[in-house]
Amino acid sequence: MKRDKTMHLSRFTSSRFMHSAFGIRHFPSYNIIVSKLSINLAGIQLANPMLTCSGTSGYAAEYADFIDLSKLGAFVTKSITREPRKGNEPARVVEVRAGMLNAIGLANVGLDRFLSEKIPLIHKMPCPVIVNVAGHSFDDYTATVAAMDSLDCIAGVELNVSCPNVKDGLTFGTHPGRLKELIQQVKTVLPHKPLIVKLSPNVEDITATARAAVEGGCNALSLTNTFTAMAIDIYKKRPRLANVTGGLSGPAIKPIALHLVSRVYRMVAKQANIPIIGMGGVQTWSDAVEFLLAGATAIGVGTALFVDPATPVNICTGIEDYLDKMKINHVSELTGALQLPGDQPKASPYP
Ligand SMILES: Cc1cc2nc3c(=O)[nH]c(=O)nc-3n(C[C@H](O)[C@H](O)[C@H](O)COP(=O)(O)O)c2cc1C
Repeated sequence: MKRDKTMHLSRFTSSRFMHSAFGIRHFPSYNIIVSKLSINLAGIQLANPMLTCSGTSGYAAEYADFIDLSKLGAFVTKSITREPRKGNEPARVVEVRAGMLNAIGLANVGLDRFLSEKIPLIHKMPCPVIVNVAGHSFDDYTATVAAMDSLDCIAGVELNVSCPNVKDGLTFGTHPGRLKELIQQVKTVLPHKPLIVKLSPNVEDITATARAAVEGGCNALSLTNTFTAMAIDIYKKRPRLANVTGGLSGPAIKPIALHLVSRVYRMVAKQANIPIIGMGGVQTWSDAVEFLLAGATAIGVGTALFVDPATPVNICTGIEDYLDKMKINHVSELTGALQLPGDQPKASPYP
């Protein structure tokens, strides 16, 4: 970032914003540099639009060995559930062409150990941290989310709704009615922080679940989670994952995720003024720019971190160069700037 063109947001300024948006009393401050890359995501001030994707870099501190965490827009934790979970049997991850399949099964330390062991480390994080929460019942979700509301070091909560309900085995994120109810309940226990709902792509119409999430009162959407898929060992004539199926991520899903972001932005999020975190196969700065043009305000990077943990940082440099080259003042001007056939031509800063 070019420091001469920037100024620092004070502790007071960022907490004052959170105060007006969500009635927060205290909010941790980071030395957020206001620059052409800094954005506001549902009330969270970020130095740049680059986030990690949940489940791809631990609970936060583990990733510190690989990159300077202050260079991230925000860190998103692995999904936390009320009870600890061992997850699925191995093999839980397999590499496939242009991506990977995972069936981790939400392995995590559970809420109590998260609070006692991970929160002290998250307190020291030099960037905002968003906690991803998963559950198997309404009570699971509300109990875990409620524990986050009073924690100053947590900037917001992302809800992983791609989880089966214990009662009927159907996932929360595939039923608009149930999803709306879940979000309404969760919002009541999270009055002071933004709620991000992470949509599943494994639905007939993602705009229906996006609309349900917005009607339920979410403050941002992230999309997408992984696509249900499988791989077969042809010599053993068995699935390569012990769980049989898993979630496909990485470059293979990028064009589909991009389409879903564009669709949700145009049909739901734009009118509702709800920001989107676009994710799915982002590996380069031009991938990120595509997601921004399609309607994303921020970008998540997951599978690409396994190839190069510095991917989000490198993407920032690439976006900055692109903005300079295109004579665009601020990254937020890219959000939704995609023009489709039939759109009214509008004055454009692009050469
Ligand atoms: C190994 C692995 C573990 C994941 N674990 C979670 C998780 O715990 N919670 C969640 O909401 N998403 C999880 N995801 C999905 C990612 O957060 C992301 O939505 C998806 O991988 C698409 O982005 P990508 O192609 O950049 O990886 C996981 C993905 C991978 C590859």
